[in-house]
Amino acid sequence: MSVVVIGSINVDIVTYSARMPAPGESMKGETYAMVLGGKGCNQATAAARLGAPTRLIGRIGADAFGDFVRERLASRGIDARSVTTDPVAATGIAVIPIVASGQNSIIVIPGANDTLTEDVLDESALRGARVLLSQIETPLETSLKAAARVRAGGGLYVLDPAPVPDAPIDSNAWKLADITTPNEVETLKITGIDPVDLPSARAAAERLRAFGVGTAVVKLGARGVYALGDGIDLHLPPFPVTVVDTVAAGDSFNGGLAVALAEGVGLQRAIHFASACGALACTRKGSSDSVPTRAEAEAMFGTL
Ligand code: RIB
Repeated sequence: MSVVVIGSINVDIVTYSARMPAPGESMKGETYAMVLGGKGCNQATAAARLGAPTRLIGRIGADAFGDFVRERLASRGIDARSVTTDPVAATGIAVIPIVASGQNSIIVIPGANDTLTEDVLDESALRGARVLLSQIETPLETSLKAAARVRAGGGLYVLDPAPVPDAPIDSNAWKLADITTPNEVETLKITGIDPVDLPSARAAAERLRAFGVGTAVVKLGARGVYALGDGIDLHLPPFPVTVVDTVAAGDSFNGGLAVALAEGVGLQRAIHFASACGALACTRKGSSDSVPTRAEAEAMFGTL
């Protein structure tokens, strides 16, 4: 399997409204959708749509939302044999209000995602992985066990440190991560440096490198990406798009990065391709529904 994603699977309840309600206010929105989401599932969907043989390791509940997930996963070209069902916990959900500018906030109720513990890790899924991608919506210890195994087999580990927990992140995570891809909010929370401009973005990336990360790729939203690692020190401006909905933009970036790396593309080019994938996800509504296909990504980026 060239890309393995270990991470969360949620049912997203997405609402669209002109603005966020003020604290204590009730207000009418416009529309809503119930869609397949979760950072792990979105990243796996991106990797599969972008053309990589992709396996997802995750955990859902034995409930109606779990059935909703399985029905949709079946049509995505993702190998879901390592998506297991917890007999007790409920399938994870996320409530996502989106406002007119496309900006969103997310509240996740993790449920079964929290039960993806080391004892239920399907290690056979990791055999032959060229790239392992994880986030922090499922237990980090399990992802790190998987990462050590993949790296021992010669694969790469990409850690998307999202969401950043309140407790400090296990220092082993940084030492195992060949690449980490925090966004602006995550960068501030992890490093204490707000990446408001290029010097501060570079300083934050340097701090991540000091933790032991191979390459720090700081996602700067509408200002592009700053990447710092062995033989790479650069700012890549964003692909210009009209933003409709930023949900899963970061997930599409990570999926694109994993696919390019699994295909043996050089790091700078892989990050550039990932940026195109992230930009495309901003142009339409939805979570895993908004991630681009290979044809769409190559129409924007050129042939990978
Ligand atoms: O990155 C977007 C995702 O974060 C959503 O799909 C939601 O489920 C949360 O996991």
